[in-house]
Amino acid sequence: MNSLAIIGAQWGDEGKGKITDLLGEKTDLVVRFQGGNNAGHTIIVDEEKIVLHQLPSGILRENCVSVIAHGVVFEPEAFLEELAKVESKIKVSPERLKISLNATVITTYHKILDAAREGKSSNKIGTTGKGIGPAYEDKAARRALKVKDLLNKEALLKKLKISMEEKGHLFKEVYSVEVPSIEEEALRLLALGDKLAPYITDTFSYLDKEARSGKKVLFEGAQGVLLDIDYGSYPYVTSSSTSAAGVFTGAGTTNGQVDERLGIVKAYTTRVGEGPMPTEITDAIGVEIQKIGNEFGATTGRKRRCGWLDLPALKYAVKASSLTSLALTKVDVLSGLKTLKVCEAYEINGKTYDCAFPGLDLEEATPVLKEVKPFNDKFESESYTSELQEYIKLIEDAVGIPVGIVAFGPERKQIHFRKSYL
Ligand code: GDP
Ligand code: IMO
Ligand code: MG
Repeated sequence: MNSLAIIGAQWGDEGKGKITDLLGEKTDLVVRFQGGNNAGHTIIVDEEKIVLHQLPSGILRENCVSVIAHGVVFEPEAFLEELAKVESKIKVSPERLKISLNATVITTYHKILDAAREGKSSNKIGTTGKGIGPAYEDKAARRALKVKDLLNKEALLKKLKISMEEKGHLFKEVYSVEVPSIEEEALRLLALGDKLAPYITDTFSYLDKEARSGKKVLFEGAQGVLLDIDYGSYPYVTSSSTSAAGVFTGAGTTNGQVDERLGIVKAYTTRVGEGPMPTEITDAIGVEIQKIGNEFGATTGRKRRCGWLDLPALKYAVKASSLTSLALTKVDVLSGLKTLKVCEAYEINGKTYDCAFPGLDLEEATPVLKEVKPFNDKFESESYTSELQEYIKLIEDAVGIPVGIVAFGPERKQIHFRKSYL
């Protein structure tokens, strides 16, 4: 196996960073292909926590080259701050970090627009406020700045002017917010471009060459399939292709395939922001899971909504991303609970559905919950209790692919492999 994609199989925060970091040990390249600093990927090494937003989670492995590919929306200032933090722990040279010259730049205007809309619009999404949606809008409207433009003053000024033609009106007339002048923003971006220059690369050609020479490539997804712009619970989604398909448009592969598509799934469900969540628990058990699981967003610090494992949603994510196996994380959080349930189906307008395909009105879904036997397993135990084995089998039977990894804690070592990867 030479290529593997890590894909969030729920609404994000499944533990993608931790699994990427772990598999990074055996990987040559770790590639981010979509999203931006809306992501918050936590890695804990020797009790020290590091949260990565734009840097791929292979960055802590000296054997890995980290690649930010063209499908990413890139925030240069936040990136340099993040890099400085990581460099206080491990050396990162341009040989070990490549940023696509074609990645889309997130500007101050995108962040202001994101915040203004969330504050005023009747269509509040509960975004991370990082300017992700507005940056992807400019990309789709063919007026975005690309990373290479940060190295060319003339191109930068020209493109910023174009990208501001309609936004000027929005800022002034619709949202009444102050924004920096185009000249100010251009100078800020050019100064950032100077610092980024050594890392800026044609990552498509670089990846193509490395993959052809037999290097092992891990594609690290951000967010999760249920937040995908096409497959997700629209309109409560992010603005990129978070499913495995995003690898092909956001980074590229040499042989047109990704050998293993590993879905990361929590043993329960969480969601941050607005939007339907059929298995949300609104009583004390939800609060208990939230506390034990420390369910606070790694990017915004917001409380994550907690719910039982949603099998119809997971089944859909497996299909929508052609997942080949699953990593089940945070099993320790459910361990010891007195009551345990899973959602096997939804009832919507008198009909029962066991897969959350698009078009289903999840706002109207009543979960069909099945009570399962609680388990109390520890990472250190020699073998799993029959109750945990049943829980895992229930998932495998429902979705039709194996659970290859079981995680029992945030640390690198708190994990069991039931299958080998890379
Ligand atoms: P990501 O966005 O998918 O990388 O996930 P986040 O980092 O946003 O959220 C996952 C959280 O769960 C982080 O705080 C991790 O340290 C933590 N975590 C990951 N795996 C496990 C696990 O198996 N058990 C526990 N208790 N925590 C975990
Ligand atoms: P990782 O990679 C969880 C959610 C936001 C909001 C919606 C749109 O850490 O799993 P955006 O700022 O992208 O326009 O917000 O998507 N969201 C995430 N939720 N984990 C993430 O990333 C997320 N990135 C965005 O809360 O509901
Ligand atoms: Mg996260």
